[in-house]
Amino acid sequence: MAKEKTLFTCSECGGTSPRWLGKCPACGAWNTLVETVAEAGPGKNRLSAPQYSGLAQAQAVMPLAAIEATDIARTPSGIDELDRVLGGGIVEGGVVLIGGDPGIGKSTLLLQALDALQRVGLPTLYVTGEESGAQVALRSRRLGLDHSQVNVLAEIQLEKILATIDATQPAVAVIDSIQTVYSDQLTSAPGSVAQVRECAAHLTRAAKASGVTIILVGHVTKEGALAGPRVLEHMVDTVLYFEGDTHSQFRLVRAIKNRFGAVNEIGVFAMTEKGLKGVTNPSAIFLSQHSEPVPGSCVLVTLEGTRPMLVEIQALVDEGGPSPRRLSVGLDRDRLAMLLAVLHRHAGVACMDQDVFVNAVGGVRISEPAADLAVMLSITSSLRGKALPRGFIAFGEVGLAGEVRPAPRGQERLKEAAKLGFSVAVVPKANAPKKPIEGITIHAVERVEEAMEVVRGMG
Ligand code: TYD
Ligand code: MG
Repeated sequence: MAKEKTLFTCSECGGTSPRWLGKCPACGAWNTLVETVAEAGPGKNRLSAPQYSGLAQAQAVMPLAAIEATDIARTPSGIDELDRVLGGGIVEGGVVLIGGDPGIGKSTLLLQALDALQRVGLPTLYVTGEESGAQVALRSRRLGLDHSQVNVLAEIQLEKILATIDATQPAVAVIDSIQTVYSDQLTSAPGSVAQVRECAAHLTRAAKASGVTIILVGHVTKEGALAGPRVLEHMVDTVLYFEGDTHSQFRLVRAIKNRFGAVNEIGVFAMTEKGLKGVTNPSAIFLSQHSEPVPGSCVLVTLEGTRPMLVEIQALVDEGGPSPRRLSVGLDRDRLAMLLAVLHRHAGVACMDQDVFVNAVGGVRISEPAADLAVMLSITSSLRGKALPRGFIAFGEVGLAGEVRPAPRGQERLKEAAKLGFSVAVVPKANAPKKPIEGITIHAVERVEEAMEVVRGMG
């Protein structure tokens, strides 16, 4: 293939330059020029040529109602928890990006999935750029996948990978990882934004053209974003993230974007000696086992996708220096600052001279505001050195005016808590059930100060 010309394109305004420049010559933005391939010539859409636009023919349009809405055919991957996040299974020509920390289990899960697909007769291809074929084989033996017929290709050059996909026509191909793949047409190093973006774009086009499902593995930076380009997220159909503490046994796979299903659905796995096993009833896995209730701990009932889950929120409030620290793991730090202000203003609880640390147990990330009440109660519990009663749960969003707002699907949350043996709940008034739920006493509150009052009355 003839080497095509490279070009530097501004990610802000789309302006181009033949050389790399710190400042975009068109819009003046700094550090926005990224190397791209200029695919000049007829039929290529990369270089827009306004002077030709007058020659293009108008295309036929059709009203929406006249277009047949065909349902998407999905093939179950054979791993139920993965199918749940994918929205039922893999889709022909679909492109999935799966991100997560190193060592969290991406390669393990995908190898298991490919083997399951291969066993039901779908041809699969595993492209490894990080490990040798022998290392992959070793993992498959460890996983108990003897006699696996999954095809393996140890290759990092895009053109060779595309040619192999074209020649072998697998139903599903995994690229592990997209950061190792490079195209000969760019001079940038593998793993650079330009390379990752260009390679992902080619692979996406190949998937759409051939109907092969392509799963891209992506690395995550320390800040938790997919390394390099967020643009990858826009290109693909589905984005999944692995979460969880690599030191604990449990892993969550969360759908951040899904053109073929619901987002924020999660799959739950346990890492075992023989790879990842689905956890079908995960509601109680993020609770730590205290033999006696301890100060600074409050159990939250959160709703993840379609399933309620109980997660322990821990807080430690301790005398701080001149500029006290506010740290959160698994919860939003800005939200923590806001909750501390609300606590002070509306409930008279001051933490100005204290360090405040909060943590969601088990490495799970909680983004829903319904965690507010549990965060506040764990903070006051730690500050006072008094444990919440045994079997206590809470949920509810807290507003700046000190009001406690309802959480979606409160009844389901309460029922799940009662099922797991929790017996006392503080919840928003609007979430209080009309009929009592067996085994659980519910205190409905409208304001933060009311919630604090109820808890103080518990002894
Ligand atoms: P891996 O899947 O290679 O993670 P990633 O591709 O996301 O970087 O490895 C996950 C970790 O899991 C690794 O540290 C070893 C461990 N592991 C098990 O506990 N059991 C197993 O059966 C396998 C294959 C790995
Ligand atoms: Mg890996």
